[in-house]
Amino acid sequence: CHPGWAISMLAAPESHSPASEASMTKPVDPDPRRALLDRLEAEAELGGGEDRIAKQHESGKLTARERIELFLDPGTFVEMDKFKTHRCIDFGMEKQKVYGDGVVTGYGLVEGRQVFVFAQDFTVFGGSLSGAFAQKICKVMDLAMEVGCPVVGLNDSGGARIQEGVESLAGYADIFLRNTLASGVVPQISVVLGPCAGGAVYSPAITDFIYMVKDTSYMFITGPEVIKTVTHEDVTKEDLGGAKAHSTRSGVAHFALDDEPATIASVRELLSYLPLNNTDDPPAQPCNDPVSRRDEALKTLVPENPNKPYDIKEVIKAIVDDHHFYEVAEHYAMNIIIGFCRLNGRPVGVVANQPQMLAGVLDINASVKAARFVRFCDAFNIPLLTLVDVPGFLPGTDQEWGGIIKHGAKLLYAFAEATVPKVTVITRKAYGGAYDVMASKHIRADVNLAWPSAEIAVMGPDGAVNIIFRKELAGAKDPVAERARLVAEYREKFANPYKAAELGYVDEVIRPEDTRPRIIRAFEMLRTKRQENPPRKHGNIPL
Ligand code: HXC
Repeated sequence: CHPGWAISMLAAPESHSPASEASMTKPVDPDPRRALLDRLEAEAELGGGEDRIAKQHESGKLTARERIELFLDPGTFVEMDKFKTHRCIDFGMEKQKVYGDGVVTGYGLVEGRQVFVFAQDFTVFGGSLSGAFAQKICKVMDLAMEVGCPVVGLNDSGGARIQEGVESLAGYADIFLRNTLASGVVPQISVVLGPCAGGAVYSPAITDFIYMVKDTSYMFITGPEVIKTVTHEDVTKEDLGGAKAHSTRSGVAHFALDDEPATIASVRELLSYLPLNNTDDPPAQPCNDPVSRRDEALKTLVPENPNKPYDIKEVIKAIVDDHHFYEVAEHYAMNIIIGFCRLNGRPVGVVANQPQMLAGVLDINASVKAARFVRFCDAFNIPLLTLVDVPGFLPGTDQEWGGIIKHGAKLLYAFAEATVPKVTVITRKAYGGAYDVMASKHIRADVNLAWPSAEIAVMGPDGAVNIIFRKELAGAKDPVAERARLVAEYREKFANPYKAAELGYVDEVIRPEDTRPRIIRAFEMLRTKRQENPPRKHGNIPL
């Protein structure tokens, strides 16, 4: 900091300074050097001052420090750069310095495990990013990389500090670079708790998970006013880039919660599934749910009629520890389910087709959603459980022109390159290319199980009969009866798991009620799995 400036503030209590109010309430330390420290700390802790703090609360938001308090285990926060200030001397900024410069940074513990944190302070220049502000964030990111711990960013900012111009833009780029280099090395989590606009959105976008809060947070490249001018569209900022928009339509946000405490609690839970870094194992916890627990309800969960839906989440909840599933991106591309669970106390990532939504078909959004999740789990040594009930890829011009070929290929690529333990259970349909893609044996899944209700074939019986028996059907005396006979024949021959089991593509056909003990056993067998991909600079996933 600037001791000269600090001391002059100390000597001039009549100047406008939040510290003058704060220090009045504390007993003054008789040692003047300690009194100065007390006073500077009090000033820093007051951020933009009482009025702006009150305004922050009025708008339904907590302050940066309150958020950190909620996030970390009590009393564990160690702050860094508390007295750092900006260097701007334009627009009278040299007279407006606030200790900390609008971002609170440091490290602390979550459930006893270390994380690095930065919290943008909207009460100081609207949380806008200066060069000094960016340096503070970069410092904790660099440390996090060196010691191998997650970084959690609590975002609430008006973007680039306008008075600083290109220095602020440079600061963003410094952060983006670190986000990129940290990707796959330490978990990075962004919590958007206020505005996040312009290029500033790209830091959260590179991180692994984005949380938003309903009604108080928003993210967009350009706001409603610019949109109105350029495209003449009328849209509110909530509709454009609020939590709902990003958790249901764009898929940018993985979580949208009702308020800040719930959001911060959810981030703490997410961290409980994650290793500290890519060389660490995900944290195991004691498991009180018997590993041998069978679930009789699974016997009848898959309806007799293969066209009837059921809820794959019932399967997930039936087999995981304590029936507890931490779902990610719950409201986006709901035809595929992703999330974390524990099996015998060990974290596992789950990917499951959802027959209840679009029959569990793979479309562009579902493929991209699951692909990114698979890559995250693989990067951080989290084993993958894949539950398959997929009728194929979604047909149609929208999908073809939207690039289902390249987007579907992302999921294929992600599963194929993943070297973590992979266990797959086919509960019902596994048709066509989607069979291959959904962690099949052929792309290096380790243990592939199927329920007796599994149907593994190039396509469903109706479509198959239409194609391969077209001539017979055209010439049949009673085409309806002939069709029914051929469909039944096809179903008997192919719509079961036994052909695949004969070929060794399915390791075992299991009774549904035994799924939990069977997959836990499989993951235990795989605990010491070692597999490496060929050396290369990096692959070229079809982006
Ligand atoms: C400097 C800023 C600021 C900014 C807000 N403030 N944004 N100061 N640079 N970018 C200051 C305000 O002057 C005000 O100071 C205080 O923060 C609170 O702002 P308000 O406008 O009073 O708050 P509110 O009404 O809640 O509106 C919040 C807001 C608005 C929507 C974020 O402030 C706003 O539109 N700000 C500008 C956003 C913007 O265009 N940023 C640049 C985006 S481009 P006082 O002293 O009055 O309390 C960008 C590029 C990044 O960020 C590129 C990366 C590659």
